[in-house]
Amino acid sequence: MPTESKSLTKLPSILVVGGAGYIGSHMVAYLRRAGFIPVILDNLSTGHQDAILDEKLVIGDITDAAFLDQIFASHHFAAVMHFASVIQVEESVKAPQKYYHNNVMGTLHLLNAMLKWKVNRFIFSSSAAVYGEPLYTPIDENHPVLPLNPYGHSKRMIEQMLEDYAHAYGLQFFSLRYFNAAGADPAGKLAERHEPETHLIPLVLRAAQDKTSITVFGRDYPTVDGTCVRDYIHVLDLCEAHLLALKTLIGGKQGGIYNLGTGQGYSVQQVIEIASCVTQRSISVLEGARRLGDPAILIADPKRAMRKLNWKPHYTELKKMIEDAWAMIRKPISP
Ligand SMILES: NC(=O)c1ccc[n+]([C@@H]2O[C@H](COP(=O)([O-])OP(=O)(O)OC[C@H]3O[C@@H](n4cnc5c(N)ncnc54)[C@H](O)[C@@H]3O)[C@@H](O)[C@H]2O)c1
Repeated sequence: MPTESKSLTKLPSILVVGGAGYIGSHMVAYLRRAGFIPVILDNLSTGHQDAILDEKLVIGDITDAAFLDQIFASHHFAAVMHFASVIQVEESVKAPQKYYHNNVMGTLHLLNAMLKWKVNRFIFSSSAAVYGEPLYTPIDENHPVLPLNPYGHSKRMIEQMLEDYAHAYGLQFFSLRYFNAAGADPAGKLAERHEPETHLIPLVLRAAQDKTSITVFGRDYPTVDGTCVRDYIHVLDLCEAHLLALKTLIGGKQGGIYNLGTGQGYSVQQVIEIASCVTQRSISVLEGARRLGDPAILIADPKRAMRKLNWKPHYTELKKMIEDAWAMIRKPISP
């Protein structure tokens, strides 16, 4: 049974699934500022109640069809934004059942509730993981989708469901394939906090903060300094793209599948150097072997989103992303 922190409303609103997580909680604040009424659905498995300011939080799980039915029965949603997912690539290899159950089955229940309650606008958090080992770079949306692990497979399976539901039932959707989300809203409350943390920037900043070490996995890649290169996108630029996608769907225009990245890459070594400069601390580095399935370079070609959504990333400098992430880590959590 769901528990609610506030009473139910009949106002048109946006259901933000996974809205207590890192990216979802930023989106909630962004939606509010843009004049929408976000309602958060989250099971708090990796999300944080203290990331939510004043919004309505409904605690529950998308794999529970009866729970979903109850939420949709008591609200009138203009659209659903779906950030909820288990997200650890390595874990997905060891425990695929968890990934297919939570991500694929949970999303299927969500889509079926939408179908039943005639909500047909959907914005999905997909991932660059759908591409697998890049055949060329920068990666555009026409690049073959060949995921390398159950996490990536779960994202691609969901995209397939969206395409089929669009065809058969008229679902209007965007699938936004993020590259590496980074940074934080300086005005917000949530730093990137995953447990266990697997993302580079928070790990580097944690090493700086706690005077521990960061491991660099491989220095023999064919890149500028031998370390892996990734495309980092500020979380506020992700939110802006979601807002434009939402307005596109509400305006009755077509959705689609879009990459979200800056088109610019930074190496692991560069991240460490910039983080050291931002934090004014030396960061201790351990050398590790290459990890299986870690491509040398993952850079987005974001031109389709820029053209079709009229979107442009504003915070493309990695220094700014790291500064915002560091400021949030250093900010005391207020009740
Ligand atoms: N962080 C990145 O760099 C990145 C990159 C590519 C794609 N993505 C995708 O973006 C989305 C958000 O990522 P994030 O970094 O904010 O992750 P996160 O773990 O911080 O947020 C996910 C949220 O979903 C909730 N959740 C998970 N399963 C649920 C369920 N069954 N029912 C209800 N709530 C559930 C969690 O409690 C959490 O609040 C995910 O779909 C992820 O795959 C993230």
